[in-house]
Amino acid sequence: MTTPLVTLRDVRVELGGAEILRGLSAEIMRGQITALVGTNGSGKTTLLRAILHEIPFDGQVLFHCGHDHTHPNPQHVGYVPQRLRLESSMPITVRDLLGIALQRWPIFFGFGSQLTAEMTAMLRDVGADESLLDKPIEKISGGELQRVLLALAIHPEPELLLLDEPAAGVDVKGQEQFYDLIGRLNRERGTTILLVSHDLSMVGKHVHRVMCLKDGLVHCQGTPHEITPDILRQVFGMDHAMFVHQHS
Ligand SMILES: Nc1ncnc2c1ncn2[C@@H]1O[C@H](COP(=O)(O)OP(=O)(O)O)[C@@H](O)[C@H]1O
Ligand SMILES: [Mg+2]
Repeated sequence: MTTPLVTLRDVRVELGGAEILRGLSAEIMRGQITALVGTNGSGKTTLLRAILHEIPFDGQVLFHCGHDHTHPNPQHVGYVPQRLRLESSMPITVRDLLGIALQRWPIFFGFGSQLTAEMTAMLRDVGADESLLDKPIEKISGGELQRVLLALAIHPEPELLLLDEPAAGVDVKGQEQFYDLIGRLNRERGTTILLVSHDLSMVGKHVHRVMCLKDGLVHCQGTPHEITPDILRQVFGMDHAMFVHQHS
C-alpha cells in the first residue's frame, strides 16, 4: 500500500487565453514510476511545469515531503525538460555544465581533482562514459545528452523526478537502457518518478501506473495491465502513433 507523494487538486492552467488544465485532480504515488500519456498538446509539459510551480495555476499541488507542503523544494525535485535550448555560439563542455551545478564559485577558477572525481561519479551513475566530460554539449548524441541531464537531475538525490519525454529521439536500444536506468534508480533509491512518454511498449514494461491526460483532465489511470491498448484507443482514437506497439 503506497501513499501519495504529490496530490493535485482541481488544478487549472490557462495559457494564451485557452484553458489547458481544467480542474485536474490526481495523486502521484510515493516510490512508484508513473507514466503520463496523452496526445500532442494535451498539456503534459504544462502539468509538469505546474508541479514545479514554474507557471501560474489555480488549485493545489501538495507535496507530502519536507516541512512546507505547498511549494516544491528544489532539493526534493529533479527535472529533465523536454527540450534544452542549446546556445551553440557559446560552446560549453559537459564538464562545464556539471561543474556549474556542483560548484558555488565561477568556473573560470578551474576545476579541482575532487570535483572531476565527483563529475566522473555522476556520469557513471547514469551509465555514461567519463570521456564525455571534455565534449561540447552540442556535439554529443541525444541519448548522451539525456544521460547528462539525468545526472544533473538526480544530483542532489531528489524524492521526485520529473522526466519530459526522456527517450524521444533515442534509438530502441538506447531507450531500453534509459528505462532500465530509471527502473534501477526507482528500486535502489526509492525515487518517485513521473515521466511523459509516447511509447506504450516501453511504458508497459517499465512503469507501475499509467495516467492518461485528455481534455485537460486525468481521463483514466491504472496499472499497465488495466490501461490496455484497447482502452487507450477508445480514449484517444484509433490511429494515434503511440498505440502501434502491443505491450506485454
Ligand atoms: N506559453 C504558452 N502560451 C500559450 N500557449 C501555450 C504555451 N505553452 C503551451 N501552450 C499550449 O498549451 C497546450 C499544451 O501544451 P503542452 O503542455 O506543451 O502539451 P504536451 O506536452 O502534452 O504536448 C498546447 O496547445 C500548447 O500550444
Ligand atoms: Mg510536451
